[in-house]
Amino acid sequence: MKTGRIYRRFKATSGEKVTLRALRWEDLDSCVVFVNELVGEKRTQPNLGVMVDTKQTREQEAEWLTHQLTGIEKGSVISVVADVRGHVVGNSSVTRGSYRDTKYHGYLGIAISKNSRDVGIGVEMMRTLVKESRKAGLKTIELEVFANNPRAIHVYEKTGFRQSGRIPKKMLRNDKFIDSIIMTREL
Ligand SMILES: CC(C)(COP(=O)(O)OP(=O)(O)OC[C@H]1O[C@@H](n2cnc3c(N)ncnc32)[C@H](O)[C@@H]1OP(=O)(O)O)[C@@H](O)C(=O)NCCC(=O)NCCS
Repeated sequence: MKTGRIYRRFKATSGEKVTLRALRWEDLDSCVVFVNELVGEKRTQPNLGVMVDTKQTREQEAEWLTHQLTGIEKGSVISVVADVRGHVVGNSSVTRGSYRDTKYHGYLGIAISKNSRDVGIGVEMMRTLVKESRKAGLKTIELEVFANNPRAIHVYEKTGFRQSGRIPKKMLRNDKFIDSIIMTREL
């Protein structure tokens, strides 16, 4: 796959024009702002499905981005970002299993900036990830979600994922243990 490749454009219910495309190197500064907003939000949001613990420097984010772009070029990462007026407001990917036995299976992650949630972007990103993963030859996708995140669970069910398991008390957030739900989809 090519970095920066455009999949499609649509209008969010807010009226904003959104472009869904793959990550590209020029996203670096936008990604720093994006990730650090999410890290800041973790303190107040007990169900935010974001794992990064600390604010990222430009160098740390450049390292992450380089890894992602290499994966996109090698075909091991299917990347979908939501771009609004040149800024990354949503980031998602499916990462192919790295062994011969697991290479038809992918692991999905997605997050959208606070100000761009609930306007239809997540569902569109999920549909694009599913379509592109199928095109890339994947047969199954899995994801993990906090059990106390009904919006995310709704979006995943709406895009064809089903609950396949639950890991009790997997997550520790703000001194409280929270169950994690595994969801899967066949392509
Ligand atoms: C979860 C997330 C990806 C969803 O994307 P989004 O752009 O906000 O979702 P959309 O606007 O496309 O769709 C939201 C849907 O959830 C519904 N919804 C909103 N709040 C809800 C709630 N509390 N319970 C159930 N459904 C809810 C909306 O009605 C809408 O459903 P509809 O299309 O059937 O009307 C996004 O909100 C997000 O990134 N959240 C923070 C990070 C995170 O938790 N990521 C998940 C990691 S596992």
